[in-house]
Amino acid sequence: MKLKEKVAIVTGGTSGIGEASAILFAAEGAKVVVAGRNQENGRAVVQHIKDQGGEAVFVQADMLNTDDIDKLLNTTIEAYGKIDILFNNAGISVAKPLEEMTYEEFDDVMDTNLKAPFQMCKQAMPYLMKTKGTILNTSSIAGLSTNSNSYAYSASKSALISLTKVLARDYAAKGVRVNAICPGITETPILNTVNGEQMSYLEAIIPMQRVGQPIEIAKPALFLVSDDASYITGSTLVVDGGITLV
Ligand SMILES: NC(=O)c1ccc[n+]([C@@H]2O[C@H](COP(=O)([O-])OP(=O)(O)OC[C@H]3O[C@@H](n4cnc5c(N)ncnc54)[C@H](OP(=O)(O)O)[C@@H]3O)[C@@H](O)[C@H]2O)c1
Repeated sequence: MKLKEKVAIVTGGTSGIGEASAILFAAEGAKVVVAGRNQENGRAVVQHIKDQGGEAVFVQADMLNTDDIDKLLNTTIEAYGKIDILFNNAGISVAKPLEEMTYEEFDDVMDTNLKAPFQMCKQAMPYLMKTKGTILNTSSIAGLSTNSNSYAYSASKSALISLTKVLARDYAAKGVRVNAICPGITETPILNTVNGEQMSYLEAIIPMQRVGQPIEIAKPALFLVSDDASYITGSTLVVDGGITLV
């Protein structure tokens, strides 16, 4: 088991990539704190982990609410006494033409995808320094190149890569590794606004000719948070079926 005795927080653990990662991390021995707003989904993920013989708790937390971020970290320490792995994975996407995109929508995307991970990193860092732990941030291929109409999303995901690198540099000597993962187009509810025709187009342009599955992001995420990646910090792992080559 790659994460035996480790304590992992997975934000956005209620769905998609986070759900697959929470289940995989638990199967590898981690005690997982599954965070998100959707209580029904969160409880179902925890039950799934327990049914597999793993250990997990759900903390209902809105990443836009500072009190909820405090609650998430406090509950983790109360339940398990330490933090080894922080997976900042919660995220939202709003893609609208410039003239339709509101300032509120822009702020919501930036606050969820960038400010909340910053707050989580800042508040978890004292605990991570104690355990020589690790942070993984979910960026996106949209943070490396562009998607049309993806004003806030691309900006937030690019900035998250920068945040990852600065943290990696500043905390390497203190024993904390910080990396980012950039999923390509992955079959999760975040793609609900993509219609069948758009999906066929996307599948045709991806060199591997298909979208990714959440488990195909969770497995490289496991690598980055495990000791197998003990000499990797400040890196950005692209997991995209080759679409950034096009
Ligand atoms: N799927 C893709 O094609 C793709 C590609 C590149 C990057 N990504 C990134 O991968 C990450 C996971 O997305 P996904 O594809 O797995 O989509 P998803 O299934 O929609 O999951 C998004 C997760 O984020 C959580 N979340 C969103 N806003 C939140 C908030 N205010 N507070 C707390 N949790 C919040 C959701 O939880 P609740 O609803 O329970 O709050 C949910 O668990 C995101 O950062 C996304 O940008 C996805």
